[in-house]
Amino acid sequence: MAPNDDAAELREQADKRREVEDLIVQTYAPEDDVLRETVAAGIAAGLPTIHISPMEGQLLSVLAAACGAKRILEIGALAGYSGTWLARALPADGRLISLDVDPHHAEVARAAFARAGVADRAEVRVGPGTELLPALASEAPFDMVFIDANKDDYPAYLDWALRLTRPGSIIVADNVVRNYGEPLRPPSDTASEDMKALHTYNRRVASDPRLRSIALPIDDQGRDGVAISVVLATTPS
Ligand code: DHB
Ligand code: MG
Repeated sequence: MAPNDDAAELREQADKRREVEDLIVQTYAPEDDVLRETVAAGIAAGLPTIHISPMEGQLLSVLAAACGAKRILEIGALAGYSGTWLARALPADGRLISLDVDPHHAEVARAAFARAGVADRAEVRVGPGTELLPALASEAPFDMVFIDANKDDYPAYLDWALRLTRPGSIIVADNVVRNYGEPLRPPSDTASEDMKALHTYNRRVASDPRLRSIALPIDDQGRDGVAISVVLATTPS
C-alpha cells in the first residue's frame, strides 16, 4: 500500500474509534447541563481543562455501585467535575471527601458541588495530600479511592489508599497510561519524576498480592487511561 493509503486508513480507524466512543458516551454517559456548566466554570476560573471524560465518569460511577460505596475519597478535586460524578454515585447518606492543595481549586469545586445539589454529601479539604491523608484514619475505611492529583506522589497516595480501605474497596488512579503508555515502559534515566512515579504505581498495583488490578486505555482516544484495583479479602496463594 502506498504511504498515502496507509495514512488514509489510519485516519479512518481513528475516526471510527472516535465515533464508537461518542456512541458509548451518548448511550451510557451523556453529560447533563450541570456537568457542562462545571466544565465552563472551571475554564472561567482559569483552571486547566484536564478533567476526566464522561466515559471515565461513568466508569467511576459503575465501580462505586459495584463496591456499594458509601464513603469515597478523592485525591485531587480540581474543578469538581470528577467529584460530581463520584458524589452522584453515592446514596443520600454517603460521603465524598475530596482533597486539593490549591484553595482556589477548592472554592471552584465547592461551587460545583453546590450546583450539582450534592454539597450535603461532598466536601473539599485543602492541603497537600500527603499532609491531609494521615488525619483521615478516623474516617476510614473508604469504599473507593480516586487518585487524580500530582503524579510524583502517586506511590505515596497508593500507600495511603491501602491503609484507608477495606477488602472489597476499589482504588482508581487516573493518567497511568499517559502519552500512549509511556509509564508502562521502563523509564529512561532522563524520564521525568512524574513518569517514574506513574511507572512505579503501575508496577506496584500490577504485582501487589493485596490487589487485583487492570489498566484501561479509555481516555483521550487511547493516549491515556486509568488503573483499577480491587482490595482483596484474602491474599492469593
Ligand atoms: C494532567 C493532569 C491530569 O490529572 C490529567 O488527567 C491530565 C493532565 C497534567 O497535569 O497535565
Ligand atoms: Mg487526571
